[in-house]
Amino acid sequence: MTDWIQRWQEGKIGWHRAQVNSKLVEFITCLKLKQGDTVFVPLCGKSYDMVYLLEQGFKVIGVELSSLAIEQFFDENNLVFTINQIDQFTLYQGENITLYCGDYFALDKSVLKSVSAVYDRAALVALAVDLRAKYAQHLYFIIPNDCRVLLLTLNYPQSQISGPPFAVDEDEVVSLFSKGFKCQQLQCFDDIKNELKFLRAGVDFIQKATYCLHKTGA
Ligand SMILES: C[S@@+](CC[C@H](N)C(=O)[O-])C[C@H]1O[C@@H](n2cnc3c(N)ncnc32)[C@H](O)[C@@H]1O
Repeated sequence: MTDWIQRWQEGKIGWHRAQVNSKLVEFITCLKLKQGDTVFVPLCGKSYDMVYLLEQGFKVIGVELSSLAIEQFFDENNLVFTINQIDQFTLYQGENITLYCGDYFALDKSVLKSVSAVYDRAALVALAVDLRAKYAQHLYFIIPNDCRVLLLTLNYPQSQISGPPFAVDEDEVVSLFSKGFKCQQLQCFDDIKNELKFLRAGVDFIQKATYCLHKTGA
């Protein structure tokens, strides 16, 4: 965890994109959202995708370890916010958006009662294998039944380059979300030509996959 805080302090945030993720735009309808619904963004960083969700008329709840990330999010997008302390979290609240600064694994389900959907870009794949199992179990525990999750993953030969982001293949996604979720892969393609770091390291392929998970609770 200190590693992430340090990355933010040193500005080593190579995953951050200043534009909306094209897969969010392409597949947002799979979340079956209505205007005013709330989307949970775990491990949210200062993702510009949260601005896109707000612009589409949704509310956002995020959780992020780094206060620097959250403050940069509000400042860079010219959003006004207030700060409050609740238990082990610092709450940053703007119009239609609440970002919890603290540990995802400490987040209680009472906080996510109003959530209809989850958007995971670079959250699951940011975690090492043991934490990924814990992440999926905790997600199941904290989100309401009937929630849909738009999950973006990467898969590449892990022996050729180290993470994060870590390689997560379809079998792992299916296994992680086998309890209580229906899992559908929406798309998967090799994007090695656009991934310079991986190309330069001689990695054979990098598959980018999109999934829609549905928490049925059964
Ligand atoms: C790879 S970044 C992705 C950020 C964002 N999802 C995006 O697409 O830009 C992962 C983020 O998760 C945060 N993080 C890591 N572990 C966390 C935890 N246990 N609780 C909350 N945030 C965490 C890090 O500080 C980092 O900002």
